[in-house]
Amino acid sequence: MEFAEVVRRRRMVRSYRPDPVDPDAIERIIATARRAPSAGFSQGQYLVVVTEQETRAAIATLGGEDGYVADGFLPWMSAAPVHVVVCVSEADYHARYRERDKLNEDGSEIDWPVPYWYVDVGATLMLLLLAAVDEGLAAGFFGVHRLEGLNELLGIPWNVTPIGVATIGHPAAEQRQGSAKRGWKPLEDVVHRERW
Ligand SMILES: Cc1cc2nc3c(=O)[nH]c(=O)nc-3n(C[C@H](O)[C@H](O)[C@H](O)COP(=O)(O)O)c2cc1C
Repeated sequence: MEFAEVVRRRRMVRSYRPDPVDPDAIERIIATARRAPSAGFSQGQYLVVVTEQETRAAIATLGGEDGYVADGFLPWMSAAPVHVVVCVSEADYHARYRERDKLNEDGSEIDWPVPYWYVDVGATLMLLLLAAVDEGLAAGFFGVHRLEGLNELLGIPWNVTPIGVATIGHPAAEQRQGSAKRGWKPLEDVVHRERW
């Protein structure tokens, strides 16, 4: 599929058919996601791929699926045949930036202009979502507000932060829009040329 078409088609999908997903497609999606850039090539991004139904149900509970159902959505989290828990290790960035080529002249670690670990894990998530579309699949994302529940459930080390869960599967025919129905802001409100 053309790149522009992949980007255009990508929407957060919150309704899936129960059919399983080709495991080779998942491997290709993951291989694409791991090509995300990272500051200093720290590569602090990690993925936990979950297909077991019981575990997906437990993740859906942590994601507050009940609330979505109460709002009129189908139980899309537990129904999605694949969950990819997207994680980042801030510690990996500090370790990398304490290497000689990254230190300040006085030997101290840089003052981080922004938390690059969250920038990088966002790039990983985006590649994951786009790669799913490129495979003819659909993807969504949900935040989990009880993050430590995910660490515990999946044995994720305590110094690794799961930033949320991507759902992947075949989209159901009927889709219900979430916040996207608000529409896009006008381009001129978003893009400033030469200066803000
Ligand atoms: C960081 C982030 C967190 C999000 N969290 C949730 C979430 O918890 N539940 C959900 O249904 N959608 C979530 N979304 C999806 C957004 O609501 C969605 O991207 C937005 O409404 C635009 O729709 P579109 O992606 O289909 O264009 C999240 C998106 C991002 C980027």
